[in-house]
Amino acid sequence: MILVTGAAGALGKLIAERLADRDDTVLGTRDPRQSPGVLPVRRIDFDDRSTLSSGFDGVDVLVLISAGYGEDDTVIARHGAAIDAAEKAGVGHVVYTSLTADGDHLPYALPHRWTERRLRESTMGWTILRNGLYAELLAGLAAPSAEGRITAPLGEGRLAAVARADLADAAVRVAVGAPAHAGRVHELVGEQAIGGADLARAHGPHITYEPETLGEARARIAASGAEPFQVPMLVGTYSAIAAGFMSRTGGDLRRLLGREPRSPLAAALA
Ligand SMILES: NC(=O)c1ccc[n+]([C@@H]2O[C@H](COP(=O)([O-])OP(=O)(O)OC[C@H]3O[C@@H](n4cnc5c(N)ncnc54)[C@H](OP(=O)(O)O)[C@@H]3O)[C@@H](O)[C@H]2O)c1
Repeated sequence: MILVTGAAGALGKLIAERLADRDDTVLGTRDPRQSPGVLPVRRIDFDDRSTLSSGFDGVDVLVLISAGYGEDDTVIARHGAAIDAAEKAGVGHVVYTSLTADGDHLPYALPHRWTERRLRESTMGWTILRNGLYAELLAGLAAPSAEGRITAPLGEGRLAAVARADLADAAVRVAVGAPAHAGRVHELVGEQAIGGADLARAHGPHITYEPETLGEARARIAASGAEPFQVPMLVGTYSAIAAGFMSRTGGDLRRLLGREPRSPLAAALA
């Protein structure tokens, strides 16, 4: 049996859609009323150990979607609780949605690397999907204003962005063929690096890209009502892209999918 956690999130929904016609798959989510589609659902909340004690019973392959919103200790506690419970339940293999190696400069890299280490030390088989940053995330970080201006501290930096749907396709491919991916780390970055000027051009001639400073962005984000932990997450993401650490492209995604990845610009504009 395959169980997909985080099934009500954006990535989880896409994975659930792709597994909807299987009779060996169940979904896990904090609120089963939000669960998409027709598959059976279990309440799985990494913050609530009572949902984990029997939540992974009978599971052969666990697709563990990172629950990455929070301070590092919060996220580590969540992932640790999930992996402890999976071990106790006798899960055979965990497929974990991690972060690309080039993301080591990002403020949220540490809990991903902690989780990878915990999985390597576990009694279970594992596959690590080192997901690149979503094209859809970049679209949100560099969205045009009503006046047609993209204001973001990206400088000339570019991101090897990935369409979220491609990462869902990759996770499904690994989940249904898990033994062939045991002990493997897939670096799932895009094949095209895009930045603020590329996005502006793709939006059309009426849109301009106007880089701002990190300080200006930090003040803007802090004033927007973001949670304290979100301010360094967002500023750090801009900073890593602007400094050129996120532009390296790669071919693992194409090899895993057996086809060309979706266009990140099309995904960003959709
Ligand atoms: N590569 C990237 O660009 C990128 C960007 C943003 C985030 N991420 C990471 O990738 C994950 C999936 O991305 P997404 O786009 O689907 O994000 P999303 O739509 O914001 O979904 C958040 C996910 O976190 C799960 N979650 C939160 N708290 C949880 C808890 N206590 N127990 C279990 N699950 C919990 C949610 O599960 P339920 O709601 O179903 O319970 C949901 O799947 C995120 O959680 C984050 O760690 C990656």
